[in-house]
Amino acid sequence: MSSSFAMAKDVPGPQEHFDLGGSEESLERLKQYTRDYGDFFRVYSPHRASYTYVVNQPDAIKRVLLTNHRNYVKGVGTDQISILLGRGIMTSSGEYWHRQRRMLQPAFHHRIVGQFGEMLHSVTEAYARRWAEQARTGEPVNITQAASELTLDINLRTIFGTDLPLIHERFGANPFAIVHTESNRDLKFAYRLRSLAGIVRELIARRRANPQEQHFDFFGMALAAQDKETGEVMNEKQLIDEVLTLVVAGHETTASALTWTWYQLGRHPHIQEALAASARALPDGRALSFDELEAWTLGQQVMKETLRLCPPGWVMSRRALQADVLNGFPIAADTDVFISPYFVHRHPEHWTDPETFDPGRFNEAADAARNRFAYIPFGVGPRHCIGEGLAKYEMTTHLAHMARRFRMTPVNTEPPHIEARINYRLRSDLMMTLEARPA
Ligand code: HEM
Repeated sequence: MSSSFAMAKDVPGPQEHFDLGGSEESLERLKQYTRDYGDFFRVYSPHRASYTYVVNQPDAIKRVLLTNHRNYVKGVGTDQISILLGRGIMTSSGEYWHRQRRMLQPAFHHRIVGQFGEMLHSVTEAYARRWAEQARTGEPVNITQAASELTLDINLRTIFGTDLPLIHERFGANPFAIVHTESNRDLKFAYRLRSLAGIVRELIARRRANPQEQHFDFFGMALAAQDKETGEVMNEKQLIDEVLTLVVAGHETTASALTWTWYQLGRHPHIQEALAASARALPDGRALSFDELEAWTLGQQVMKETLRLCPPGWVMSRRALQADVLNGFPIAADTDVFISPYFVHRHPEHWTDPETFDPGRFNEAADAARNRFAYIPFGVGPRHCIGEGLAKYEMTTHLAHMARRFRMTPVNTEPPHIEARINYRLRSDLMMTLEARPA
């Protein structure tokens, strides 16, 4: 018997066979296996006829996502997502991914993202006016719907900027609204999403024909982006895939993160009151800058703690290209690896009282002492979320506006039904009543 076989035999894990993936059942099984086997185990997948390794141990996460990331490509579920997003940066791998990421990266620098401040302010204000009316009539607000609409609106403005009205004019009501109105991510949705490629194609042609026009949006930045090494620009297919990737990747995650934030604030009224008081200490009536919101301690803490307990991207999958050693155990080439922020963020060695919602746990001393790979709501390493800065700016702008103006109370306080597929989110809509706070 070879020694590597002997070691491999020792990897903990259940006897039963189960196909881990993005499903509610996967979340429940993973809870059970995590209780039984801890932060590193394997489960035999009958469908793939191989073991899937669940890697929630921070040093092993570091190896997969950072120090040996070249050995890992996106894994289980990527084929399905590729039907939606083609070969955009979410799904592609290797040198091709690297080139596309390099070309898109500068657009997401916080100095650029900070320039969306005025837009974030005015869109959020428009929602605040709607909420004020609902507070007046006592009509509960459907937070899930509102967060989805708001984040789609913002997302499309960051991508298409001033061309958005043109899209509406040319193609009728917002053709991208399917991302918000259709919750199934099935083949029918994929077909409808891919049919939006025609709109992007037309916009590419329009913008290329009118180079004198000034645009400040991700689409314009992607059109202008040049490969540093070759000087090449993206072709039409690449632009379409990247634009559709940003439309989908930037929307649902941010929408569920915002919904979860109100969910938590509704269940912790004393934290909501403290947040309202600290939001009132921020300047009102103008756009808050990226840096001002980064310095808003309680707003940042509430957001971070929500993303700890309720990370929308609850599982990341990878496939090893070559054999590797993780947590002292050899894994074979082609092995599927799952990393789950949901479980890492509850790891008892790294978090005290992990199930308690406690924003104050994010403070300078604790953050410095904590293992960096124990908190990964936006992933980590070269493939970490490109939209992290934008998502945080968007969320804190919203919180600063709304927390100072409204007291939000959940209509229903029963335990929530969770949906854990591609994203971790509430299955039924979150309804809250609003009370306008005195000016
Ligand atoms: C709270 C909101 C968000 C969360 C929690 C989130 C989470 C994540 C996570 C965990 C990953 C890494 C996936 C992996 O390594 O397998 C990721 C990647 C990505 N995210 Fe986000 N995201 C958010 C918002 C956004 C926004 C606003 C955008 C764009 C406007 C965006 C675009 C992307 C893209 C393009 C990738 C793939 C990056 C690559 O592979 O190079 N995300 N996101």
